[in-house]
Amino acid sequence: MGIAQLDTILRGTKLSASLPEPTTRIAQLANDPNCNTLELLRLITSDPVLVSRILKAVNSTYYSLPQKIGSVERAIAFLGLKAIKNLALAGGFQGMFSGPELVPGIRPIDLWQHSLTVGAAARDLARMAKSAYVEEAFTAGILHDIGMLSLCQQLADPMRQVVQMTKAGVGLFSAIELRVMGVTHSQVGGGLARQWKFPEFLAEGIAGHHEPESSGQPLAAILFVADSLASESDSGFSLTAAGQKITPEILQLAGLTEANCDELRVEMPNLLQLISHLM
Ligand SMILES: [Fe+2]
Ligand SMILES: [Fe+2]
Repeated sequence: MGIAQLDTILRGTKLSASLPEPTTRIAQLANDPNCNTLELLRLITSDPVLVSRILKAVNSTYYSLPQKIGSVERAIAFLGLKAIKNLALAGGFQGMFSGPELVPGIRPIDLWQHSLTVGAAARDLARMAKSAYVEEAFTAGILHDIGMLSLCQQLADPMRQVVQMTKAGVGLFSAIELRVMGVTHSQVGGGLARQWKFPEFLAEGIAGHHEPESSGQPLAAILFVADSLASESDSGFSLTAAGQKITPEILQLAGLTEANCDELRVEMPNLLQLISHLM
């Protein structure tokens, strides 16, 4: 499949219809170091569903706050702007991952659980790597497999075949996607991130998350490691990362070590607990 067909898939994607309008703006603000707190607060509070999702997460046992929090302003005071930006992003994108099974074996809710796991893991790994893009790593993580939604909507039969072949051990998911459809969910995801006007390095990170060496992007490498570790924990739909190996070259590109991966493995139960409150 050439660029032309990738364009056709991107044009045919109906995801933007299910993306609440303020969410794209929140994502752009969340990745802006000079983020305007008042605008972020206004965007969040304009969406009552989002407010209730954030407060539910904030009041969950994960944060163990000494008192119940009843407003987004109070939540920011207790947990800081960064934490609330991430919860807002997670809450904003959640609506896209709903509905019935897309193709046999792929449920949106399982993709969402996997995406949250990779987002939380990527943020922790980016912090360990002393990356300048810790918050962006979370955004990239929750969106890294967004191309799966688009492909399942538009190419359901070939996707069913890709799932069956991967489960049968024919090869890695991405390689089979290329063989069967000529396009991968990573390419589609990168294209969607560009359509939504996310920073280019973020789009490149998403586009390269299954082949970080050829993309040369540290964020792609961080996503690859997070995806692989999330796949080990078997949280949600992680077939896309099944069987992929974290090589020394990928670790080096990510700015990580084997010890960092072990640290993340130890931290994983806590991350999964946080995620259970965001579902
Ligand atoms: Fe993926
Ligand atoms: Fe993934």
